[in-house]
Formats: sequence, C-alpha cells, structure tokens
Amino acid sequence: MSRKYFVGGNFKCNGTKESLETLIEAFKKVKSSNSEVYIFPSALHISLVQELFGNNHAGVFKVGSQNISCTGNGAFTGEISCEMLKDMGVDCSLVGHSERRQYYSETDQVVNTKVKRGLENGLKIVLCIGESLSERETGKTNDVIQKQLVEALKDVTDLSNLVIAYEPIWAIGTGVVATPEQAQEAHAFIREYVSKMYNSQVSSSLRIIYGGSVTPDNCNELIKCTDIDGFLVGGASLKPTFVNIIDSAQ
Ligand code: PGA
Repeated sequence: MSRKYFVGGNFKCNGTKESLETLIEAFKKVKSSNSEVYIFPSALHISLVQELFGNNHAGVFKVGSQNISCTGNGAFTGEISCEMLKDMGVDCSLVGHSERRQYYSETDQVVNTKVKRGLENGLKIVLCIGESLSERETGKTNDVIQKQLVEALKDVTDLSNLVIAYEPIWAIGTGVVATPEQAQEAHAFIREYVSKMYNSQVSSSLRIIYGGSVTPDNCNELIKCTDIDGFLVGGASLKPTFVNIIDSAQ
C-alpha cells in the first residue's frame, strides 16, 4: 500500500511579520513535492502565511491550524471554529498536541470531541499521541498509545481524513530524537492496533507521521522506516533548512 508522505511544520506560538516573511520566502525554493506539506502557524498568522505563499505555492504548501474549538460558532470567547477555518480556506488542523493536553488541560474526551467535529466538518485532522518519559521507562508506552487511540477515536468511523502523529513527549523540543527503531516500533504498534479497531485496509492506508526533535540531520534515517509516513516538525520548521526535511520525504 503506497501512502503519500505528509510533512507538517508546527510553528507553535512563534513568529513575527518579519520573521515569517523571510522564512516563507526561503520555503518557496521548494517548487514541487511528492508529499502533502502543511504549515501550522499561530491562528493570528494563518492569513498572513496564506498570503505570503500566494497562489503559486498552493500546489506544494498548504496552511493548517494548530487547534480547533469543540464548538461551532457562537458565544465562545477566544475560540476558533471549524466553520471559520473552512471559510478562511483552511482544511486541516492539529488536534491533541501534548502541549495542549499538558498546559491547557485537554483530556482524551476533549480530543475526541475535536477529532469528531473536525472530521464531520470535512477537515483533515492530525491527531497527536505519545507517551511521557516516565511512561516509557516503566514500560507503559503501548498501553498509553492504545488508550489515547481508543479514546480519541471513540465513535469515529471514517479515518480517510485522519493522520496520526506519534510524538513521544520526551522527544518534543528536547533535541532527543527517538531512534529509528523506537519510532518504527511505536508506529508499527499503532498500525496494528488501528487494524484491530477497524480493519487492515484502514490501517494500511493510514498515514502515521513522527514528531519530536526531527532535524535535517536525522530525518533521512527515520524516513526509511516502513511505518513512518512523514513528520511533524516544531523547532526545525522555523528554519530555512526545513526544506531539507520536506525533501527527505519523497
Ligand atoms: P519539535 O516539536 O520538533 O520542536 O520537537 C515537534 C512538535 O511538537 O510537533
């Protein structure tokens, strides 16, 4: 089963008008890619980044959101609904990033609501899951992943618009990247478990991407792994050399 690679650049809460202009100009060196490439700027910068790419680059770079609301439009101060994103030409969002879970108390139930709302509204959803260091060290990695999958995908029947990002928390922003063996093992477990939850056809077409200290130096080894279908990149996506990571996924 051939799966199209997916590469995401998660800018998190970073960027100024000036730094984004310089960065996006550098990314425009990529004239074509066999991967699906999304940039996830802050909500405030979505329109700016869309504008900076312009129509010529819509074929390579798309712009996504880092988060979506559990609700539709209405009296929900500070929220951004799926409806608003679609209206602004955004068709993809991250959901369940560990920073959202950790700092903004997003439970598995909240993550499940967001996954369902996003998919029901026709958005592509990148669902982030992954274990902490202590969970890994006490041998709980698979249990944690399994629980996150079961709860986030409760009542979700169609995974065709879903991408799963395996992001071990201990690797995010630490410079400690998972080894290709560690990443492959977790990705294979996720694929196998999704096969149990759905079926082998669903699991073999599901894209499972790796995130956590991906750099131009380590991406080439990681992408060789059978079950790694691309990357979700934080820190290294804020540098012009992010294009090398995009190029690795061909
Ligand atoms: P990092 O972040 O590449 O800076 O480790 C990845 C992520 O949080 O998506």
